[in-house]
Amino acid sequence: MTASPLLYLQSGGPTAVLNASAQGVIEAARRLDLPLYAARDGLAGLVKGELVDTTRATDAEIARLSTLPGASFGVSRHMLPTWEEAPQEWLALRDVLERHDIHHLLINGGNGSIGCAARFVEFEQHTGYPLRVIGIPKTIDNDLVGTDFSPGFPSAARFLATQMREVAVDMASMAQRRIFIMETMGRHTGWLAASTAAAAQYAGDAPQLILLPEATFDAERFLRKVRQSLDEHGHCAIAVAEGLEGADGRPLAEFRPDATYGHEQLGGVGTWLAGLVKRELGMTSHVAQVDCLQRAARHLASAVDLRLAHQAGSTAVEWAVNGKQGVMTAFARRATDTPSWEVEPVPLASIGDRERRMPAEFIDADNLWVTPAYLDYLRPLLAGPAAVPWDKDGLPDCRAIDWVSI
Ligand code: F6P
Repeated sequence: MTASPLLYLQSGGPTAVLNASAQGVIEAARRLDLPLYAARDGLAGLVKGELVDTTRATDAEIARLSTLPGASFGVSRHMLPTWEEAPQEWLALRDVLERHDIHHLLINGGNGSIGCAARFVEFEQHTGYPLRVIGIPKTIDNDLVGTDFSPGFPSAARFLATQMREVAVDMASMAQRRIFIMETMGRHTGWLAASTAAAAQYAGDAPQLILLPEATFDAERFLRKVRQSLDEHGHCAIAVAEGLEGADGRPLAEFRPDATYGHEQLGGVGTWLAGLVKRELGMTSHVAQVDCLQRAARHLASAVDLRLAHQAGSTAVEWAVNGKQGVMTAFARRATDTPSWEVEPVPLASIGDRERRMPAEFIDADNLWVTPAYLDYLRPLLAGPAAVPWDKDGLPDCRAIDWVSI
């Protein structure tokens, strides 16, 4: 192994299959007999020169990697400025890369991270140091443009739909009328809240209402539908996206407006809705803010998601060594009876720092549910369980891998 090492990093929020992409990257590098380093804590670690050598891990450890939730190398919300804003930060990065003779960088992240990856495309032009960069998609929010879906979303969706289906049975068991509100993540998009629609096996099944940031929230229509559901079913299950907006286009609830990574931290709209229901209908609700549970639930991951996350990683290595530059391993769907996906290069500059919201054709006319077209889009992504190893106590085996620092 004499070639210069590739560098891989994970960036942004973790997903249940982020480590499957890492596994794809590492296995491809091993197959091609290429050394591979990884940055600790994503871009924050890269800036500080905190790297690990993946070649020091055993094959058994790499085989276990895709069964672990979280981000095995660590992630951060660190963002990079433009060259014009802070050339000294880019020159410091050049020092780190040059010290380790790294000329290939693989960035695995969501829209902010892919935006940073896009800034590396002009690295050579600004610093004189040759560098190829490839992006690997990842985000439970499913809001990356240029790709049919983002790895991580199908698994979070499978978790949410499973929880919604099971809670519906719980609600139906109770003699008293009951309102259940499930608040999902997703930032300014409703892909995750919408995924709970897959829980409904028959028309009218839970969730009875789905509230999306892409659809204007109308309190009167909402309350009318809640009453109607209570009369018809004796209960009402509501899925709400954390980014649900009021008429002014602002999220109805912000948990921490001054979040450090440049976006406000959303959260709390489920409790806000429960307050509305209490005031207007005099009823209490159960509220579940699912929060990080939906992105950590590796035990309920989708097999399709796991397989394609791995493929996005291995393809990125092949493209990097074959000379591709400045593209992301995006997914294009081949719609046949059984949909399949191909990995296609999409320029990083056309993806980064943008946000794909749910299109109108996926939102029901009354703005309180999804259309059959959305379910046709979603269902193939949920297919198949992705097994995890269980420990002697019957819990998922989540032992961390101890990466060796350089
Ligand atoms: O980007 C994924 C995501 O899970 C969003 O859905 C959520 O709003 C955000 O991350 C939370 O970020 P953090 O864990 O950094 O607070």
